[in-house]
Amino acid sequence: MQAAVPSRFPLKRQARIAVLASGRGSNLGVLADEFSPDNPLGRVDLVLSNRAEAGALKLAVHRGIEAHHIPWTSRAAFERAALLALAAAGSDLVCLAGFMRILSPAFVRKYEGRLLNIHPSLLPHFPGLNPQQQALDHEVAESGCSVHFVDAGVDTGRVILQRKVPVQPGDDAAALAERILEQEHIAYPAAVRLLLSGGAQ
Ligand code: GRF
Repeated sequence: MQAAVPSRFPLKRQARIAVLASGRGSNLGVLADEFSPDNPLGRVDLVLSNRAEAGALKLAVHRGIEAHHIPWTSRAAFERAALLALAAAGSDLVCLAGFMRILSPAFVRKYEGRLLNIHPSLLPHFPGLNPQQQALDHEVAESGCSVHFVDAGVDTGRVILQRKVPVQPGDDAAALAERILEQEHIAYPAAVRLLLSGGAQ
């Protein structure tokens, strides 16, 4: 096992937060609400998406946040462009929010300790795709969401914070996803707050 890099948080200035998203962007929305330009802890000032039609890009543009579509022609090409954009923005923290691609070990290493993801299950249970359906298939009584550091595995990095929800009789994946999403919208800003203030080493 590799030794963890020492945390660079708390910073003595406002952190610059980048969000990578592929879809709707509701988690981006709550992060941008909380980490607005007047929050001394940090501000979301860059959004990158691999999908031109992502709601996340529209949301960012609407809020005046710098946003770029970087096509996933290949992982290497995406990462090259993303690393340039992150470096140009001076991003201190990168938050994956519904980013539906796997980043390379080299990219993950570069942002070790400052690359987060949110996953709609209580990790280590149900990593990967369709975690809500996986939870239903396993007939668990509760599920939830996890905010975790990203490591080279899929949804395997250290968990910072989790929030639980009950699984209700008659739930389908969409109903469970909706219940979990409400908790994601609390968990993600809370985890970023914790990390930026030095409480998630
Ligand atoms: C969320 O459920 C997130 O946990 C998962 O993808 C969904 C993204 O939703 N990884 P949104 O784009 O943030 O609305």
